[in-house]
Amino acid sequence: MSTVVIVGSQWGDEGKGKVIDYLAKEADVVVRGQGGNNAGHTVVVGDEKYALHLIPSGVLYKDTINIIGNGVVIDLESLIFEIDALRTRGVNVDGIKISDRAHLVLPYHKVLDRLSENMRGDDKIGTTQKGIGPCYMDKVERSGIRVCDLFESDFDDKLRRQIRIKNDIINKFYGESILDEDQIVNDMKIYADRIKPFVTDTIPLLYNAWKKDKKILLEGAQGSLLDVDYGTYPYVTSSHPISGGFAIGSGLNPRAISEVIGITKAYTTRVGEGPFVTELNNEIGELIRNKGNEFGTTTGRARRCGWLDMVVVNYAYRINGVTGTALMLLDVLTGLKKVKICVGYKIKSSGKIITNYPASLNVLGNCEPVYETLDGWSEDICDVKSFAELPKNCKKYIQRIEELSEVPVKIISVGPKRNQTIVREVIY
Ligand code: GDP
Ligand code: IMO
Ligand code: MG
Repeated sequence: MSTVVIVGSQWGDEGKGKVIDYLAKEADVVVRGQGGNNAGHTVVVGDEKYALHLIPSGVLYKDTINIIGNGVVIDLESLIFEIDALRTRGVNVDGIKISDRAHLVLPYHKVLDRLSENMRGDDKIGTTQKGIGPCYMDKVERSGIRVCDLFESDFDDKLRRQIRIKNDIINKFYGESILDEDQIVNDMKIYADRIKPFVTDTIPLLYNAWKKDKKILLEGAQGSLLDVDYGTYPYVTSSHPISGGFAIGSGLNPRAISEVIGITKAYTTRVGEGPFVTELNNEIGELIRNKGNEFGTTTGRARRCGWLDMVVVNYAYRINGVTGTALMLLDVLTGLKKVKICVGYKIKSSGKIITNYPASLNVLGNCEPVYETLDGWSEDICDVKSFAELPKNCKKYIQRIEELSEVPVKIISVGPKRNQTIVREVIY
């Protein structure tokens, strides 16, 4: 098992950063393949907390190569800020490699993200306003600007042409003041000089690592239900945060993937708008939010919280081909008298029970959760080191998730720190 995908099975923030960091100790290469600085991956080492947005979560190990792959959209200002902040904290960032094929998030993308969200009014998506959607729009429309363009003689012309087009939209359509063309061009030139040492063709680098049987970790950002095809469209992100997305976003061929770990929170959270069948707008939801510190790593927004939804998780597992679960934030449920797992949806208008995740938002809006209720546990599990030592009811909860998903729980996380991790089956 040398190439392992880490993928979020819900709406993001499942604890991917923690698992990547944990496994990166043994890995040779960690790769991001989609999304941008809309991601916020938290790694806690001792008393130090790192929030990573564009830089892969293997960066805290000095010998690991950390690739920002071709499918990632890069805001250079944010990337440089992140690099500098890590350096200041004594982290060695020399192992970062940036794909020359990755697209750039430019200032006009961020402005357009904000303006289009405002225009949607009550139908807003609740984006992170990092310019992700508008950047992927340009990529697909074929007017995007890539990292390799930064170092070419026609870069100025290319960028100025785009700024003028976008300024027209910003000014004539949205009625906002235009962006300063010279300022953007000058800033980009400064950023280009700063990132040049990290830029390379990451495709042969990864191919050679695979050929040499190096341990490769593919770091999914966001979550499967935010996938632009499979998620709760249009309340999704603009990329493919699923295992298959790596065949596009990293340049590694699909045959290379040997294991897919589904990162699953022991309950469910979501930031931004969109359907959420098991959402708890009550004191239990509030308790989970406070105990799990469920506030966005990127935007600081309060995350919506609810019970574990196995309709969602099973849907995600099938799309991703998940071979093992990392069950996260289990400690947050400690102290609840009863814990619930959603095992199906009841369509309110017909009474019909479904277990497949519906495409239509109207159907989803007409669904209510069908729960199984299990007894909770009160014993503190934060220092538990093995499955055997977990409280009986906690084990039952895990075993029920295994039965419902038909996938083994290989990792159990009982706290944010590295040593609060129970490994039932070694991945590396
Ligand atoms: P990611 O985007 O999937 O990497 O997840 P985030 O970092 O946005 O959110 C997960 C949060 O949960 C972070 O604050 C982590 O430090 C924290 N965390 C991860 N695993 C655990 C755990 O098992 N227990 C608790 N209490 N916190 C955890
Ligand atoms: P990580 O990697 C949670 C959500 C936003 C919004 C929607 C679209 O930390 O799990 P975008 O800015 O991508 O156009 O916003 O997607 N979203 C995330 N939610 N975790 C993330 O990343 C997210 N990245 C985007 O809140 O609802
Ligand atoms: Mg996050």
